[in-house]
Amino acid sequence: MSQRRTIVVVGASRGLGLALAKEYCARNWHVIATSRGRSEGLDKLRECYPSSLEIETVDIADGSSIRALARRLETVSLDALFVNAGICKANTLTPLEVDEKDFLDMMSTNALGPMRVVEALYYRVAEQGVIAIMSSELGSIVNCTGFWELYSSSKAALNMLMKAFSARHAGESRSLLLIAPGWVRTEMGGEQATLEIAESIPLVVDVVERSAGIPGLRFVNRHGEILPW
Ligand SMILES: NC(=O)c1ccc[n+]([C@@H]2O[C@H](COP(=O)([O-])OP(=O)(O)OC[C@H]3O[C@@H](n4cnc5c(N)ncnc54)[C@H](OP(=O)(O)O)[C@@H]3O)[C@@H](O)[C@H]2O)c1
Repeated sequence: MSQRRTIVVVGASRGLGLALAKEYCARNWHVIATSRGRSEGLDKLRECYPSSLEIETVDIADGSSIRALARRLETVSLDALFVNAGICKANTLTPLEVDEKDFLDMMSTNALGPMRVVEALYYRVAEQGVIAIMSSELGSIVNCTGFWELYSSSKAALNMLMKAFSARHAGESRSLLLIAPGWVRTEMGGEQATLEIAESIPLVVDVVERSAGIPGLRFVNRHGEILPW
């Protein structure tokens, strides 16, 4: 019997999600990491941590895929759930210019999908546990500068849906986090981003670990500082 804590990391094939899976393995958690297809990064990580890492599959833009994951995890007890998956399309375009499908894909993957995962797995998470979603500094309406406006609006929608979810679960003890990792060099973040993955993800995991047992919803950065909605 293992006393190790267990986490599900959704969207862990590459980038920040793969780094999250790596960081939790290094901290001796039991990690269930999901990808949509085969992930070379996760395969390699499993070679390093064969008794820590399990690989699962889910496409969060597909409700039936989320329900199937929830059924497969029906008997699993989690200390944390981290929904990291997200996409960015048409980041320089305006509402008039964007292809409708690109915008709807972002809304589906960045806002609706993560909340469906949270709804489907909420009761798998211990009462003193943590449910975190990767949001973004760009999801703050107060701090909006117009940068990547369509992507930003999908993260603002995510924040609103999580706020509504927390209102529906008022008085419950699980910690709910919307975390902004900073601007990080990944496929999505690009070359000009200001942070290396290693400057962000360990801090993000520290915030999640420190949040266990702290009920209610917070929108925070990688240092755990509160961000304006
Ligand atoms: N990098 C930054 O500067 C930054 C800043 C703020 C917030 N974020 C957020 O951080 C998260 C990770 O970003 P990243 O920079 O690591 O991006 P990334 O390198 O593009 O990785 C995105 C991850 O999300 C997965 N994903 C995309 N659509 C999915 C779906 N429908 N179902 C399941 N998984 C899906 C991808 O899987 P596949 O390999 O299958 O495509 C991949 O694992 C995102 O939510 C992003 O919005 C990033």
